[in-house]
Formats: sequence, structure tokens, C-alpha cells
Amino acid sequence: MYRSTSCNSLRKEHTGQTVTLAGWVNSRRDHGGVIFIDLRDRDGLTQVVFRPDEHAQVSEAAHGLRSEDVLQITGIVAARLTGSENPKLGTGDIEVIASELKVLNKSDVPPFPLDSKVANEDLRLSYRYLDLRRAEMIHNLKLRHRITKSTRDYLDERGFLEIETPILSNPTPEGARDFLVPSRLNPGTFYALPQAPQQYKQLLQVGGIEKYFQIARCFRDEDLRADRQPEFTQIDLEASFITEVEIQTLIEGLLHRIFKEAKGVEIPLPFPRMAYSEAMDRFGSDKPDLRFGVEITSLTDIFQDTQFKVFRSVLDGGGVIRAINAKGAAAALSKEQLKKWEEWVKTELGAKGLAYIRLKDGEWESPIVKFFSESEKAALAERMGFEDGDVLFFGADKAQAVSDVLGRVRLRVADLLKLTEGSNELNFLWVVDFPLLQFSPEDNCWAAVHHPFTRPKTEDLALMEAGDYAKVRAVAYDVVLNGVELGGGSIRIHERDLQAKLFAALGVSEEEQQHKFGHILKAFSFGAPPHGGIALGLDRLVMLICGAESIREVIAFPKNNRGTDLMTQSPVSVEPRQLRELAISSTIKKA
Ligand code: AMO
Ligand code: AMP
Repeated sequence: MYRSTSCNSLRKEHTGQTVTLAGWVNSRRDHGGVIFIDLRDRDGLTQVVFRPDEHAQVSEAAHGLRSEDVLQITGIVAARLTGSENPKLGTGDIEVIASELKVLNKSDVPPFPLDSKVANEDLRLSYRYLDLRRAEMIHNLKLRHRITKSTRDYLDERGFLEIETPILSNPTPEGARDFLVPSRLNPGTFYALPQAPQQYKQLLQVGGIEKYFQIARCFRDEDLRADRQPEFTQIDLEASFITEVEIQTLIEGLLHRIFKEAKGVEIPLPFPRMAYSEAMDRFGSDKPDLRFGVEITSLTDIFQDTQFKVFRSVLDGGGVIRAINAKGAAAALSKEQLKKWEEWVKTELGAKGLAYIRLKDGEWESPIVKFFSESEKAALAERMGFEDGDVLFFGADKAQAVSDVLGRVRLRVADLLKLTEGSNELNFLWVVDFPLLQFSPEDNCWAAVHHPFTRPKTEDLALMEAGDYAKVRAVAYDVVLNGVELGGGSIRIHERDLQAKLFAALGVSEEEQQHKFGHILKAFSFGAPPHGGIALGLDRLVMLICGAESIREVIAFPKNNRGTDLMTQSPVSVEPRQLRELAISSTIKKA
């Protein structure tokens, strides 16, 4: 037996007991020959004392101990002297007086301290196995486990079956690039790693499973960010004979259970709902953060007769004028900074500009205000609640473009003014009534907003028949928490003909439909039940519950922003022999 108890279990009432602990040296202090060690295991710390007057040989050996050495220690639990207790530690009232010491393994000097925050993330990821020993990482992984356990219990209690689906599969369109795996047995052909188990979970419904879920690994080759990894995990589910509201209620119950069991918080139900069009108009985002206002306001009517040429040409071209009021931001935004924001929207968001008015000491400072009439100024000030110390930002363009830009400016304003700092609000929201299709000017065709298996609203089917695609809404819904898209789903098409019609609207030829989706079209002709589902991003959920800044903090072995695992150096080049076996000829030069 290596240990009789853990490093976070001993309390005052254990005084006098003989115990054996095993773990790592968290720190070592030498107080005039008496050595103190904080011994650490997964659960916490225990102070161990080596007293030369009582256990001379063991104490002598303790002089050679270093951080991260692995020890087994036997000793007697003793109360700490009055005044030397540590209220921050669970075991802060006691210490263990060591009588036996066994060094199970020695450690090199770790490349960073494990008992404090480490700023250098690359270093942490290179030595992830050490980083994982830090209390914060262990805490995050324990919470992640608790969340998946709650999920499994909750869905099991409701009759959902956990079923695995293939990792070597066919491409399924979720809006990212596929990771491809060459097939040695079928030269020249490739599997795709699933961007999501979308088609399989629908085929399980055709297969009569009725209620499926999976803690599913997904793979997407896309640009990485703080809340995106090339491989990530979804709480994925699908059910037959179920309505949109029933799925939403099921997910609200699941999130309620998770927050209660993982965080001890009762979240209020039901979540509010907001139509996509309202979210875009008021907040410029399909995942609005409603913890603060700074809403987008329409000014199109006020500037109907404007002489300002930028606004004039936008209005003549069928565009809109909108603005947000960054209340009290004038002090934080100098003219130079406003110039920088203008540069930012131009270079990074592709906007034409970011007109502004700064109201400071009664002065309207702005490059555009000289073009406004007195009545326009008065109407503008009233509508925007424009007061001394405020800054107005304007967007003039097609409605979608203005929403995109002002939505981003709104978030930057919230960041600048620290509008969510220190808040522990959990703001949940359903965004519903998404458009089914969106025109992609780059590809000159219509694309599915969610994915091509999403059902059009029954009342909009006539619009679809008429080819009025922009107006067709989907039975699709996203669940948003504090401005982060936690999950998304939809009711699906279950009729072969409607599915084929949708593929046709997306410009997928008959031949391509057969080639790529023949299996699902065929399945739909054998009595597919009505069905729908949703997937929640597990990593994002755990990140938000842990209060972490990035999903890398809640994944044991994540990739960095360049898609590299710094610990194993994956991805790596392979032997030419391996490529030959796969019938692949490569002329790629490594950068
Ligand atoms: P969707 O593509 O919206 O839907 O994905 C569902 C959720 O998965 C999370 N997510 C990610 N998390 C981390 N890294 C990524 N690269 C990443 N991409 C997505 C998000 C997102 O809300 N099959 C559909 C679901 C359905 O219709 O049932 C799907 O995958 O939190
Ligand atoms: P210009 O006449 O192009 O120098 O623009 C005058 C001001 O209007 C500058 O502050 C620009 O950033 C801003 N601006 C130009 N085009 C737009 C637009 N489409 N939306 C918002 N502001 C704009």
C-alpha cells in the first residue's frame, strides 16, 4: 500500500493517528534545521515536518529533497502550534511529523513553478504533464468530469442511449474544412474525420433508436481562436417525434442540472427567446451578450434628407444608417484612439469607415458633424440619449454589414468600459428563427446557415417554392451564454423530396447529391420519422463554468493557435515509405 489517505483529508480530529501519504514535493522550507515540506497530491496539500531531534536519520535525508520529487511519508498527525495554522488550507490546522521517508522518484528542476500562475502558455503546453499538476488544471478537469457525468445521468434518466458513431467517416458539411485520412486499402480514396456526427445521428433515427446522445469528438480544420480547437467535444443528441420547444426544454433542464451539480448554482428557467433578426438589429450578433446594453439604434429616418455624401450614397443605394452610444467613453477615447478604431474596422472588419461624434465639455468633436443640419443634430441627440462624455459610433452600409461592424464595436466598447468585469451573471438566451439560407457572394451561391439538413418553417415553404430564399426561416435554434454560442440545433428534414429540393437550392447537382448524400436520401425514403436535435460545445461550457479565458484551459492536451501540440510536436512529417503505401505522392516543402 502506497498511502493510507489523501493529502487533503486530515483535520484536527485526526491528531495522534499514524498515516501514510504519497505525492509530490510542492515546496520545501528549512527553518534552522527543521525541514517543512508541503506534500501535494491530486486533492490538496499537507504540511510534513522533519524534526532532527525526534527522527534524525529521516530529517537528514529530507535535506536533499527538491520540488517535484515523489515521496511516500509515514508519520503522526499533530495539531499545528497556535498562530501557525493556515486557514487557506483544508489541512491548515494540522501537520504530519515524519518518521519514515521513502523517495519513490527524483525530479529535475521543473521549467516553471507549479504553485502559481504561469504567463508563458507555450512553455505550459510544452510541459503539459507538469502543467496538469497545478491545482487550477486539476480543478478544471475534475469539473469537466462532473459535467459529463451529470450529462450522462440526466440523459440516461430520460431514456437516451449513448451510442458511438464512426470517426473514420464521410465528409459532412458543418461549414469548416475536413481533416482527411487516406485509405491504404482503397488507394486514392479518403475518409473525413467528422465535423460532427450529424448524418449518423439522423440515420440512427431512421434506425428507430428514437433517443440518442454521445459525448462526441468533432474535427474541424478552421482558423483557431480562444474558443475554437481543431478537435473538440460536443454533447450531441438527437430524438424522434420531438418538437423544437421539447428539445429546448430538455436542454434547459440539462443545463440546470449541470450548473447545480458542477457549480452549485440554480439557473432560472425558461431561458428568454429572441428572433435572429432582432438579435442582429439590436446587438449586431447572432450570439448577443445581454449583460450590458449599448444597443444599436436606427437613424435611417433622421438622415433621410442628409447632405453628407457618405450617408447620402448609402441611403440612395438602399442601405441603412445606425449608431451606438458608448456612454461615458469620451474620457477613455482620445482623437488618436478613435483614429485607431477607424483603422481597425477598415482593416480587420472590411468596413468603409467608422464615423464618430465625441461630446466633451459641450463640444461635438467629429469629422462629420459639420455636414449635419441643426434639426438632424437635435433629433440624433434625442434618439441616442447623447450626453456630455459620450461617444457615438456610426455604421452606414447594407443592413447586414452595419450589424456586423457595430456588433463588434459594441463588444469593444464593453471591453473598454469593463462593462462585464466582476459580474457573475449567467445570461442565457435562445436565438431562434434563423434564416435557412444565406447568399455567399464569394461562391455566388446560396449556403445553409446551419447545415443542409435543417428544416424550413412550414409557413415559409411557399417562399422556398417561389425561390424567395432570403426570406425563408429555419426551425433552428442556438443557445447562448454571456455572448458565447454554447450550442446549436434544429428540427430536420425527414422527407426525401424536401431534402432533394434543399440540395438543389444550394446548387448541388443531381449527380453530386447521389454521390455525396445518396445514402441519406435513400434512408429518407424508408419511413424516416420526424426528428431533431442539438449539440452543445462541451469545452465552451466547461470554460464558462470554470471562468477560464480559453478552452485550452479545460482540455488536457490541446493544440495551440497554429494547430500544433507543443508537447509531442504533432503534426509531424512522415516517412516517404508511408506515403508510398498510401499511394500519395507529395511535393510539399515544409515551411
Ligand atoms: P454547430 O456547428 O453549431 O452544430 O456546433 C455545435 C457547438 O459546438 C461548438 N463548437 C466548437 N467548440 C470548440 N471548437 C470548435 N472548433 C467548435 N466548433 C463548434 C460550439 C457550437 O455551438 N451538428 C450540428 C448540431 C445539430 O444540428 O444538432 C453542429 O455541429 O459550442
Ligand atoms: P470620408 O468622407 O470617407 O473621409 O469619411 C468621413 C468619415 O465618415 C470618416 O470618419 C469615416 O471613417 C466615416 N465613414 C466613411 N464611410 C463610412 C461608413 N460606410 N460607415 C460609417 N462611417 C463611415
